[in-house]
Amino acid sequence: MNYAERLAKQFTAYKQVIENLSLKCYEELTLYELEQLANAYRATGQLSQLSDLDFVPRTSFSPTPYILQNEFLSKEQIQQVWGHVEKHQELFQNSIMLDDQVDSSYRKSKVLYEEALKSIIPWFLNKVAQLLNNSWKSLSLEVEKIKHQEIQMTLHEQGAFFQMHQDASHSGTASNRYVTFVYYFYKEPKAFEGGDLILFDMDEGSKIPGTMYTRYQPRHNSIILFPSKAYHLVTPVNLPQKNPLNGRFTLNGWLHR
Ligand SMILES: [Fe+2]
Repeated sequence: MNYAERLAKQFTAYKQVIENLSLKCYEELTLYELEQLANAYRATGQLSQLSDLDFVPRTSFSPTPYILQNEFLSKEQIQQVWGHVEKHQELFQNSIMLDDQVDSSYRKSKVLYEEALKSIIPWFLNKVAQLLNNSWKSLSLEVEKIKHQEIQMTLHEQGAFFQMHQDASHSGTASNRYVTFVYYFYKEPKAFEGGDLILFDMDEGSKIPGTMYTRYQPRHNSIILFPSKAYHLVTPVNLPQKNPLNGRFTLNGWLHR
C-alpha cells in the first residue's frame, strides 16, 4: 500500500469514527488522534472540509506575523534591478521544488539564480537587514540567529502560481530557513491580476495551517518578510498580454539560522 492509499484508508477510518461517535466520545480521542485526523483531511486536498473539524483544538492559532514596507528601493536601485532582468532574460529557468524536481502542477514560475545577481546582492541584503533590525520585534524572531542567506529573482507570468507550502523543509539545507523575504516589482501600469500572497494562520509548532489567512496583493516596490515555517501560497497570475516583462517579478530569498 503506498502513502496516498494509506492516508485514504486512514481518512475513511476516521470519517467512520466521527460519524459513529457522539460528541462525548470526541472528547475521549487523544490530541494525537485528532491531529492525525486533521492531517488526513488535509491530504485529500479538501481544505474547506477543515471547517468540519470544529473539535480540533485551535486556540493556539494566530495570524502569521509579517513586516511589510512600501517604497522599499530608490528609483536608481529599481533601475539597476530592471537592468538585471533585461540582461539575463535568457537565464530564467523553470522553478524547482525542494527535491530539485520541476512539478508544474504544484509550482509554476521562472527563477534567475544568485550567480546572475551578484552586483545587486550586497546592497539589497543590507537593506533587508536594516528593515529587520528596525522591525524585528513585530516578527517575534531573533535577528542574532541569522547566519546565512539565499536570494533569487522569480518571475510569475501567465498561469504561474505556487500551491500551499512551507519554505523551511523538515530536513536538508532548507530546514535552516528562518525568515522569508519577498520584494515585489513590476512594470506600471500593472498588466496582470492575481499573484496574491496568502499567509495562513499558524500555531506554535506550524504542523498544520490554520483555516484563516492574511491576503497580500503585491504592490510595486514593496517588500514583505515572514517566518519561513509559515504555510503560504501564491494565487494564479493572469497576464492577458503574455509579455513576460509585464509579469510579476520578485527578488526573494531566505535568511538562515
Ligand atoms: Fe514560499
